[in-house]
Amino acid sequence: MLNNIDINKMNRLMEENKDAKQIISQLLENYHTSVSMIAHEIRNPLTLISSSLQIVEAQHPEVKEFYNWGQIMEDVGFMCGLLNQLSTFNNSGTLHHSVFSIERLLKNIAVSFAISLDAEESDIEFKSSISSGMGDFTGDKIKIEEVLLNLLRNAKDAVGTNGVISLSAERKNDTIIIRCADNGCGIPEDIADTIFDPFVTYKENGTGLGLSTVKRITEAHGGTVTLDSSPGTETVFTVTLPV
Ligand SMILES: Nc1ncnc2c1ncn2[C@@H]1O[C@H](COP(=O)(O)OP(=O)(O)OP(=O)(O)O)[C@@H](O)[C@H]1O
Ligand SMILES: [Mg+2]
Repeated sequence: MLNNIDINKMNRLMEENKDAKQIISQLLENYHTSVSMIAHEIRNPLTLISSSLQIVEAQHPEVKEFYNWGQIMEDVGFMCGLLNQLSTFNNSGTLHHSVFSIERLLKNIAVSFAISLDAEESDIEFKSSISSGMGDFTGDKIKIEEVLLNLLRNAKDAVGTNGVISLSAERKNDTIIIRCADNGCGIPEDIADTIFDPFVTYKENGTGLGLSTVKRITEAHGGTVTLDSSPGTETVFTVTLPV
């Protein structure tokens, strides 16, 4: 996997040499296509296996008693989730732009998240403060939503059964600043540098693709994502997007 130093070298090579730019661009495109094709080819039979297992379980509930049945269902579910995350990550740099109200999008996300917490009868307190009048935003609406959902999901995992999560957004001159904060377990300094890398996870069922997708989508919009965490007190992810 390329790290930031490799990517900077690659970008420099592309700036300096026209031929290198053409070949690297082609290689990157081939790489994305290959990942998409492999994910697609695996997902089709896996979805069939998953549906068949669910039918078997519905028709023969006694299978749940079988040794390892629960583990098989969990593993298949995990693989389906991983392939979905992999596709999202792979496509995160390709944007489909439209002009939309970021205020409305963020308010809708906040309402859906609050509803999902209520549905689970969770004791997590969720606060949102989305400024009015942030104006029109040009970007990929679905991918911006993906950014927020990943940050909110991580915050929820971090606070566990109770705690406080807050989502805020405001416009400052020509930038939209979105903050997702929680008072959960926090991120120790020694791992903070690696969590935006793909496949870095500290969760039993995590893919480690959430934050790398957040970073790629944000950067594809010309923005930045930063982390500020004091373990035990507060963890804040700040996404800054140019308007
Ligand atoms: N708000 C947070 N508080 C504490 N730790 C966090 C927070 N957000 C992310 N992390 C840490 O960063 C790691 C990487 O996060 P990322 O979203 O990339 O993957 P993941 O959440 O582990 O897996 P997935 O997103 O597939 O569920 C997490 O495993 C977790 O240790
Ligand atoms: Mg995550």
